[in-house]
Amino acid sequence: MEIPQHISIIMDGNGRWARQQGKRRLFGHNAGVEAVRDVTTYCAEIGVKYLSLFAFSEENWDRPADEVKGLMELLLKTMIAERDTLLKNHIRLQVIGNTVRLSPSLMDAIHDLERESAVGGDRMAMIVMLSYSGKWDILQAVRRYTADCLAAGKELPIDEAGFSGYLATAGIPDPDLLVRTSGEQRISNYMLWQTAYTEFYYTPVLWPDFRRSDLEQAISDFNKRQRRYGKVE
Ligand code: IPE
Ligand code: IPE
Ligand code: MG
Repeated sequence: MEIPQHISIIMDGNGRWARQQGKRRLFGHNAGVEAVRDVTTYCAEIGVKYLSLFAFSEENWDRPADEVKGLMELLLKTMIAERDTLLKNHIRLQVIGNTVRLSPSLMDAIHDLERESAVGGDRMAMIVMLSYSGKWDILQAVRRYTADCLAAGKELPIDEAGFSGYLATAGIPDPDLLVRTSGEQRISNYMLWQTAYTEFYYTPVLWPDFRRSDLEQAISDFNKRQRRYGKVE
């Protein structure tokens, strides 16, 4: 079986999972951490090189304040709690998004773990997309390219590969497989540029219930696909 080099997951359905049990939405977010741990260690085991996880979108800032606050606290707690698992499994963490919106304490914890896991974290990159949106990414790339042009005093040549280098995901190959849980079949402003030829896989399983066996199914489905990139067989 071919293992995708880069798997990306839109981890959706935490709120509905909690509601089904008559609990608050945050209960679902908390339960989602177990799914992250299981899927991450599984991906490292089978030889996935990049696992990117959509954890919080730019639009998610507009949720009720207590949910946002709870999610940010959970993220901080998780960065600290999952440290040993990442280091033990040689997984390096990278956080991507409009991080200026995150609190200094969360950013400190992120930077610490990014720095620590970079040493020896050669087995797999775990990329957490935080305060991320695809349109934000494209726009910040345009802004930085324009700034470089102004600094150079001329219009600099640019092609698709060059533009990719300005995206927040620079240096990371485009996702081969994108999984979205909870039955929603939309991109929700995720990696718009990077998913041009990504294979999409949708499952009704809600994120807190998602485990390695579900990902195994997605990879098996991926293996039945024929990626043509616009060409003929
Ligand atoms: C995904 O679950 C996690 C985040 C977006 C932070 P949701 O919170 O979107 O859960 P549903 O989709 O409302 O069930
Ligand atoms: C996308 O899920 C963002 C994350 C999973 C982090 P949402 O729940 O925010 O997306 P919509 O609102 O259903 O499109
Ligand atoms: Mg959702």
